[in-house]
Amino acid sequence: MNMIWRNCVCHLRQGKVPHRCQSGAHPVAPLGSRILTDPAKVFEHNMWDHMQWSEEEEAAARKKVEENSATRVAPEEQVKFESDANKYWDTFYQTHKNKFFKNRNWLLREFPEILPVDQNAKEKVEESSWDQIRSNFSRMQGTEAHCGESCVSSAPGNKGRPNFPNPDLEEHSEGPGKTGRFPGSNATFRILEVGCGAGNSVFPILNTLQNFPGAFLYCCDFAPEAVRLVKSHASYTEARCSAFVHDVCDDGLAYPFPDGVLDAILLVFVLSSIHPGRMQAVVHRLSRLLKPGGMLLFRDHGRYDNAQLRFKKGRCLSENFYVRGDGTRAYFFTKGEVHRMFCEAGLHEKQNLVDHRLQVNRKKQVVMHRVWVQGKFQKPLHWTQRGNE
Ligand SMILES: C[S@@+](CC[C@H](N)C(=O)[O-])C[C@H]1O[C@@H](n2cnc3c(N)ncnc32)[C@H](O)[C@@H]1O
Repeated sequence: MNMIWRNCVCHLRQGKVPHRCQSGAHPVAPLGSRILTDPAKVFEHNMWDHMQWSEEEEAAARKKVEENSATRVAPEEQVKFESDANKYWDTFYQTHKNKFFKNRNWLLREFPEILPVDQNAKEKVEESSWDQIRSNFSRMQGTEAHCGESCVSSAPGNKGRPNFPNPDLEEHSEGPGKTGRFPGSNATFRILEVGCGAGNSVFPILNTLQNFPGAFLYCCDFAPEAVRLVKSHASYTEARCSAFVHDVCDDGLAYPFPDGVLDAILLVFVLSSIHPGRMQAVVHRLSRLLKPGGMLLFRDHGRYDNAQLRFKKGRCLSENFYVRGDGTRAYFFTKGEVHRMFCEAGLHEKQNLVDHRLQVNRKKQVVMHRVWVQGKFQKPLHWTQRGNE
């Protein structure tokens, strides 16, 4: 614990904020700011932000992973975890219903891109914390590396957003119009949540979208029970949302809307449950769904997260990929892997950071290092699937 404290204080003294700094000159994300400066106070809160690992802690984590990865699940047994992946998740939702995951109430704080920047709607919204967060975010956007001030539009309803052509406007009038009507075809801002589960992100988003009449939310999951749970929720309304069963690994499956119409895609703790060999194709396919300027928003398990260290021997499928007792799987990413995967799909990195915290169980008086990777990737104007514009 002393080592953790020393690291934190050392960074504070030097005026550095460890781990929350993004790659290159990108802005720092508005993540939490509870810093542990006095080790005696560690049990005063459930979570501490910006934690640093000491070399010893990192070496111990590496050793633990080497140990729990030494024995792999037999290849013939692995086949069923892949072919029946949706069944394992379906059983998960039949068992836990919507009680397992907590509502992702942090979502709009971390990903304000989920909301349209609509001046008319904004005027109707009371001065709220979201407004504050969004204006802070817009200010930060001004320092972005890929798109300088010259490409930020001042058009009404597009304040602070890059000036990309919108397929709904005249230049792209053959877009959705040509393909006919589809759920959300009249919307001016469309979001897709992939792997929505029981709706722990869907409903906080829908709640906020009430203030944005032009916005529409799609959400999909390959577990039919998850989609049933979302559709049976009291706040589900087809006027603003469309939930559907869909396997993102199945390239041949059509989406209920055309390519190039989404403003934002949310990938929260989903890619980690997909076989690493299939992730790149999934990211490519999803990138096609975005409008130019659209954002892919990612958050998932990070390498050496406590959840990875806790796996027992015999649960490892391949490097950093494990199967839980219920047949669902989890991969643990590094920031570099995330960068490569999304950039290979032709997207531009706007944020890519490791969110490293110390989680405290005050009752048991134990601490755990939690690690998540969070990224924001934007589709450029001239997008090609290989990433070479
Ligand atoms: C860890 S849960 C996260 C659920 C939700 N995103 C959240 O944050 O609460 C992973 C979800 O991804 C879904 N999923 C996994 N692989 C999928 C695939 N190939 N296509 C669609 N959904 C998938 C699972 O059914 C599950 O609901």
